[in-house]
Amino acid sequence: MTNEQTENRWEALYQDGLGAPRYPNGHVVRWLFGNFPREQVSDVHLLDMGCGMGRHAVMMANEGFNVSGTDYSAAAIDQATAWATRAGLDIDYAAAPAEKQPFADQSFDGILSYAVLYYLSLDKMKMAFDEVHRLLKPGGKAFIMIKNHRDVRATKGSEIAPHQFLINQTDDGMPWNNEQDMQLTLLPRAAVLDICDKFSHVMINEMTTTLDDGNYLEAAWLIYLTR
Ligand SMILES: C[S@@+](CC[C@H](N)C(=O)[O-])C[C@H]1O[C@@H](n2cnc3c(N)ncnc32)[C@H](O)[C@@H]1O
Repeated sequence: MTNEQTENRWEALYQDGLGAPRYPNGHVVRWLFGNFPREQVSDVHLLDMGCGMGRHAVMMANEGFNVSGTDYSAAAIDQATAWATRAGLDIDYAAAPAEKQPFADQSFDGILSYAVLYYLSLDKMKMAFDEVHRLLKPGGKAFIMIKNHRDVRATKGSEIAPHQFLINQTDDGMPWNNEQDMQLTLLPRAAVLDICDKFSHVMINEMTTTLDDGNYLEAAWLIYLTR
């Protein structure tokens, strides 16, 4: 299973009508309102990288920010575009891989990538973090969420390379059933610090929750970066 096949799985899920979340994540809401000034929001350029159907891009645009959104999946971008049109929002969407973004250096004041980059191989994840650094203005902020090595998904796949798991087990009603045959990169904290080497400030918190009455642990890094 290559990274490209994982991306093709996402495309197929969106084409099959994947029911993606419609409401923003609370950590994203706090990052947005804690970091960007409420005045002159239209001058603040934000990127939602791996935007899916656009729940966070829509929130940002509703608040008046100047918003771009990218996702590898063209089907996701079509649905995100349709949502923005219905809502009367002007969001600049494009289909593009996280590791190679179609923007000039220092284009953004803020970049969000929520629940995306652990679907990339370790090499491409590093490239995507470097892209975030390239695209941020000096002093710009990023918030990246990736699932980590303690997540139950590490026990639902075969470790095919260090920190890289091919998901191959299902459980009734669990979210990783959608991730069958995908390759996930689930990193310990030290490895995350290694790939954040370009940033001037790095803060990493852990977010955990359980599923199925405590039977399964979901664990993620909440990574706050400043260029
Ligand atoms: C779990 S969804 C999260 C979507 C969105 N960020 C959200 O919070 O609703 C993961 C997304 O990552 C996208 N994705 C996977 N690999 C990617 C890559 N290499 N480049 C860009 N997006 C990718 C998928 O198409 C999918 O939309």
